[in-house]
Amino acid sequence: MKQTTRTERLDKILSNSGFGTRKDVKRLVRSGEVLVNGEPVKNPEFHVSIEKDTLCVEGVDVKIKWHAYFMLNKPAGYICSTKSGAYPTVFDLLDESDRRTYLGGDLGTIGRLDADTEGLLIITSDGDLNHRLTSPKWRVPKTYLVHLANEVDEQERESYVADLARGVHIEAEANAEAVDCLPAQLEWCDVQENDKTAAAVCKITVYEGKFHEVKRLFAALGNEVTYLKRIRMNRLFLDESLACGQYRELTKEEFDLLSTLNDEGV
Ligand code: URA
Repeated sequence: MKQTTRTERLDKILSNSGFGTRKDVKRLVRSGEVLVNGEPVKNPEFHVSIEKDTLCVEGVDVKIKWHAYFMLNKPAGYICSTKSGAYPTVFDLLDESDRRTYLGGDLGTIGRLDADTEGLLIITSDGDLNHRLTSPKWRVPKTYLVHLANEVDEQERESYVADLARGVHIEAEANAEAVDCLPAQLEWCDVQENDKTAAAVCKITVYEGKFHEVKRLFAALGNEVTYLKRIRMNRLFLDESLACGQYRELTKEEFDLLSTLNDEGV
């Protein structure tokens, strides 16, 4: 996905790709069963180009992965942290073979969702991308489906939209200070059969990632969020065919939708 001109030692690539310890892979390389661009290479320290070279081990082609990019449909009850406490972590949802250090770095989540929030969560080892997408500078849009506890009449609906479009002041919570939020967009939705407990349903798009931002915004408007699901980050939408708790690698097209930033960063 990410173009890199980097090279890496053959033994490091192999141990990182699940072929055993450095000692195991050294033995494997010396056996002559490892081909780089179709030729046996017996030196474990040989540098392989991540982008250009091909690798074949014991007759099987190996895809060299510098970074991992996963889309997870996060279920409620999991936290976005590497350390579990009262809740398991989102990393516990990954297969053991995916839950590892990649050549490009350790896995992290792009932004955080609360334990009770569901939906689109990107897990990646690409720290640069993570930094760009979470930096306030780029004002990356994030859209959430929201269920509200209190009914909202037609007039209030209009004032919610107008207030959010102007920017709403949210109160301090835990260690997060009170702050004026950037303008956000609100779209009202019909309450569907499966939204039984919701008095009102809407979609909100926010451009920053403040602590409990969506919940605090609706609290400031006099309502309460009873269900929250992220459905979009930047131009990438959650693949709704992923069941809650399932994940998969991003396609190249999805990676582009996620990572391409517009020029409106400030
Ligand atoms: N806003 C919230 O209040 N919670 C989340 O998990 C994400 C955005």
